[in-house]
Amino acid sequence: MTSDTVTGRRQREHARFGAATRLESDGPLPQPFPREIGPRAMEYLAEVVDSGLTCDMVGRFERAFADANGVAHCIATPGCTPALAVLAAAFDFEPGDEIIVSSVSDFGTVQGLISAGFIPVFADTAPGTINVSAETIESCISDRTRAILVVHLSGLICDMDAINEVAARHGLVVYEDACQAVFGRYKGRLAGTLATAGGFSFDAEKTMGSDVGGCILTDDDALAERARFIGHARAGEMVEHFGRVHTANGFAHRMTQSTAAISLAQLEIIQPQVKKRDRMIRLLSSLLDEIPGVSALPIPQETEVYSCWMAGFTIDPEQFRCDVEEFGAQVAAGGIPGASPMRYYLLPVALPFLNEAAEQQRFPYSQPPASRTYRYDAESCPNAHGILERFIRWSSFCDKYEPHHCEQAAAIVRRVADENRR
Ligand SMILES: Cc1ncc(COP(=O)(O)O)c(C=O)c1O
Repeated sequence: MTSDTVTGRRQREHARFGAATRLESDGPLPQPFPREIGPRAMEYLAEVVDSGLTCDMVGRFERAFADANGVAHCIATPGCTPALAVLAAAFDFEPGDEIIVSSVSDFGTVQGLISAGFIPVFADTAPGTINVSAETIESCISDRTRAILVVHLSGLICDMDAINEVAARHGLVVYEDACQAVFGRYKGRLAGTLATAGGFSFDAEKTMGSDVGGCILTDDDALAERARFIGHARAGEMVEHFGRVHTANGFAHRMTQSTAAISLAQLEIIQPQVKKRDRMIRLLSSLLDEIPGVSALPIPQETEVYSCWMAGFTIDPEQFRCDVEEFGAQVAAGGIPGASPMRYYLLPVALPFLNEAAEQQRFPYSQPPASRTYRYDAESCPNAHGILERFIRWSSFCDKYEPHHCEQAAAIVRRVADENRR
């Protein structure tokens, strides 16, 4: 799809974010909002206020989240978009260097690396899945590739051992977008701790949600220090007899004390919630798989804890009279608010400004020696495009689901499937 067709079809409605996306949600199934905030939230918030903003709630949250994930460093940010922007800026790459990224994700995955002047090269997903694999990544590697940014979409964890092995062979940094997989477990290790660094979101909608929040996790002492310096301190250093100088174009991407208070309270209740999500999504997936023409996302064996943020399924278009959009609309009308395709997650199509820059060879696409002709379209990622054309999801799936809600949701999907069967 060219940017012209995107512009032509654009409905002039601003995208909504956070809890605002769900305020009108209603239906027989549990809805995430109002969401449960940990019982000590008011105590922590009071501490922030009563201390006259002198307590270090952010530091406490950072320590607690790092410990809970078993890593050395947590750098708290106002979201995952800034977390990944800070990481991109902290890496020692040159403008025009390439970062291989999952083709299916939220814009927040790539905003920072684009701002840093790096070129996203979107790897296709493995056939039949919404995640990249070592094979789809390896075919994208060029002499300009510096890093691989993987996304564990919906909470399904990419095969990180294989990806790290490819990266090691080519001398590449690997980092993770773990926004949709907090406390998900892969081969005994946690999502976001499986490579050099991980970015997290604590947006209100997320599994561990605050208001707007996020963080970086890393075991790399030097990277943590640089991320804090660039990301929190605006790369400012004190020089004697002068004052502050900025040695890089740094950010003030600091988490607020009140967000840290809510995040700390959330952290105290997150583990059982994630375990519940894991149990419920496995049950729901098995029920959806019983419906002819409907398939749940395959759960890789290595995803030992499926910290599922959004539920979804693919349909076999040959078996139904209606298209995926209509199928989703009927599922939503049937009682699963928000059920809809997520075509916009196909990043090479959802970012027409990138294609324009590449076509016109504007910076950083003007940087010699460009390793290739860059093209951002659906054809460049056929597996990702193919699955998103058949995929329906709902991000109102939440820890309030009980087994009978999974049965109820599957029954709604089954009814729509039966009513539209050819
Ligand atoms: C996979 C993924 N990456 C990045 C982001 C951006 O996170 P934030 O809203 O905290 O900046 C999101 C949020 O929707 C996401 O789902």
